Amino acid sequence: MLIKRKRGWELPESQATPESVYLQRRRLMQGLAAGPLLLGAAALAGRGNPLAAATGDADPSAELYPVKQNMRYRLDREITDESLATTYNNFYEFGSSKNIWREAQDLPIRPWSVAIGGLVEKPFEIGIDELLAKMPLEERLYRHRCVEAWSMAVPWSGFALGELVKLAKPLSSAKYVKMVTLEDRDVMSGQRAGWYPWPYVEGLTMAEATNELAFIATGLYGKPMPKQNGAPLRLAVPWKYGFKSIKSIVAFEFTEERPVSFWEEIQAREYGFWANVNPEVPHPRWSQATERVLGTDEKVPTLLYNGYGDYVAGLYAGMEGEKLFM
Ligand code: MTE
Repeated sequence: MLIKRKRGWELPESQATPESVYLQRRRLMQGLAAGPLLLGAAALAGRGNPLAAATGDADPSAELYPVKQNMRYRLDREITDESLATTYNNFYEFGSSKNIWREAQDLPIRPWSVAIGGLVEKPFEIGIDELLAKMPLEERLYRHRCVEAWSMAVPWSGFALGELVKLAKPLSSAKYVKMVTLEDRDVMSGQRAGWYPWPYVEGLTMAEATNELAFIATGLYGKPMPKQNGAPLRLAVPWKYGFKSIKSIVAFEFTEERPVSFWEEIQAREYGFWANVNPEVPHPRWSQATERVLGTDEKVPTLLYNGYGDYVAGLYAGMEGEKLFM
């Protein structure tokens, strides 16, 4: 007998955004994109105002959004307020405080190309707009859990990382995909701090990268990705701590050897390669038993794999000897 188990974060259909609303928003955005005067004003306003900066109106991909929501990925909680998700950020390239959104507006997002290389049939570079045109864009509501024990719930737009893996055509010898953030010391003041091992690097196994949850986010709240959140493309792997979700990616390299990620290189004892969420494995400075839900007064129990175990627990079967959770 087939039994459909409801996953923890699934919402009833009645609470999801109806298609007519999405289409209406899309027409509105298209109308705005057609009005250069309006766009110009929004872009001018962007620098001093978090919400205006977050709208991405100055981004040439603006007319692609909003994209249709994939109803398979639901939440058990309210979506975090946009003004909070776009002003409370970790992006060490722009400083170690949470308040970097203003400085991040200097990030140059065009031209932007992504290098696909390493163990692939044929290495190539692709411009972000060409990549966006090739990929099946969709919106997904995901939880987002930082190792600092705060959490959000956000609507990412983008495409499954598995789609990019298909485009890359990796060789069968590829075991990992390594991702690298832009390095530009002129704009990213944090990169002038020599004690960090720039550029920011992250990695996933091929099985993780092709798991249906692994997502390349190119938009947020139905608009292009705000710079402070990792424009023009960043990773979203919701079953792992947020530091795995590398921002502003310029390279995907397929490798046989496990890449050493940025935080792992700084302090391997505190930040491992796997970094899967587990309430029972504390970080030396933060208990992971509960999380502070940003925008509320709530502290809620943290769930194994951040509640996504149905999708990903199988990836780690038989790997009990590995340090899977930090
Ligand atoms: N990517 C880069 N390149 N630089 C960073 O400092 N911080 C990570 C991750 N990706 C970081 C990064 C951490 S610690 C977290 S919690 C998330 O980005 C924060 O994403 P958000 O600011 O969009 O919430």
